[in-house]
Amino acid sequence: MDRLIINGGKQLKGTISVSGSKNATLPIAVAAAILADSSSVIHNVPNLNDIDSLCAVLEVLGATTKLENSTLYIEPGDRSAYEAPYDLVRKMRASIYVLGPLVARLGIAKVSFPGGCAIGPRPVDLHLKGLQQLGAEVEIDSGYIIARANRLVGAEMYLRGPHGSSVGATANVMMAATLADGTTTIRGAACEPEVADLANFLNAMGADIGGVGTSTLTIHGVKQLHGTEYTVIPDRIEAGTFMVAGAVTKGEVFVKGAPAEHLGATSEKLIEAGVQLDWADDGVRVRTPRDFQAVHIATDTYPGFPTDMQAQMMGLLSITPGISTITEGIYLDRFMHASELNRMGADIRVEGNHAVVRGKLRLSGAPVMASDLRAGAVLVLAGMAAAGETVVSRIYHIDRGYENIEQKLAGIGADIIRVSD
Ligand code: EPZ
Repeated sequence: MDRLIINGGKQLKGTISVSGSKNATLPIAVAAAILADSSSVIHNVPNLNDIDSLCAVLEVLGATTKLENSTLYIEPGDRSAYEAPYDLVRKMRASIYVLGPLVARLGIAKVSFPGGCAIGPRPVDLHLKGLQQLGAEVEIDSGYIIARANRLVGAEMYLRGPHGSSVGATANVMMAATLADGTTTIRGAACEPEVADLANFLNAMGADIGGVGTSTLTIHGVKQLHGTEYTVIPDRIEAGTFMVAGAVTKGEVFVKGAPAEHLGATSEKLIEAGVQLDWADDGVRVRTPRDFQAVHIATDTYPGFPTDMQAQMMGLLSITPGISTITEGIYLDRFMHASELNRMGADIRVEGNHAVVRGKLRLSGAPVMASDLRAGAVLVLAGMAAAGETVVSRIYHIDRGYENIEQKLAGIGADIIRVSD
């Protein structure tokens, strides 16, 4: 397995570019492969393992996919296959996105029940509830979700769970509703930019979705959807990760392509913590002219502080004087990275979904292990800020969501190399 070897203490300086959004590309690729009756061309697609894994699922379902120079070409299949198998779904949780489109298009879907992961249980009850409200019959058999419907019928529904709105459930039900008979209203819909990007893509395919970007979506069903050409939004979480990279190394970094309009809560917390952000049309300059200040963070659904930036901010707060707190409101045990940061000399105490971070002057490099995508990212950030050498193992987690991370960071002065065992 690959590892990243990082020698810390280098101030990052220069321009680092943001790739397209992983979490927008995934549902958009599903829509293009299953809901459309002609081919699509999707630009600004990041070259990531997650994209490859999803394309493998779409190929099993009969589609043809090709990713070339950040453009994904998708040819829908002949609509005969409707099963997403366990050995592929277990690698790619987001395969659950094929459930709604398959039922809408073929009247049947068989998708392996997605497992949990390091950030906790990942239920899909809201996905199933929404599809049932559209008239699908759903059963669980031998680890598979089997959903059937002769014809989906538009419905009014409220789609929030105990932790608020659901990105995945909103995407799944919205996609299914585009081909349902009549009108669907989803209240409590997720407002994340990735959901809005999917809605914009669906409308470009001929869907009729109103309320895009709000918590109430109105979908008027249509008879068919055609392929289209589209450009995916930038990845706000990758951008936020690079903003923190500039801060923790006390460098001066321009994050090119960072989407200001999607980074409100992240920017506000970084500024409160003492980071200087100067936004331009094509990105943001990150500087740290003053000492960091302790802050209190509570993750929330969009436009609140994103859970996918929680680990990265914990890395910054680990070297921020004073006592900071983090409350994880979305995934109640998304703190696996805290113990790895403590191996590097951080002082973080976790109680349930709360973490108390007592900032240290400096972290020290150590061998650490990535447990999930963003936990892996913060270990890279901490390694760049720490004194000495850090070796990050299990970096396949990082490769799922960060394109060429070591090349991008080395390009602005990080001492980081990838080694393969
Ligand atoms: C998406 O996951 C993202 N993944 C996650 O990013 C992100 O952390 C999450 O949204 C929250 O923003 C993709 O887009 C591929 P949810 P998703 O449904 O859709 C509960 C990353 O780092 N819930 O919005 O699975 C759930 O347990 C990944 O790129 C139910 O209770 O998240 C959680 O507590 C990690 N029932 C909360 O809702 C359901 O049916 C939000 O989950 C579904 C979810």
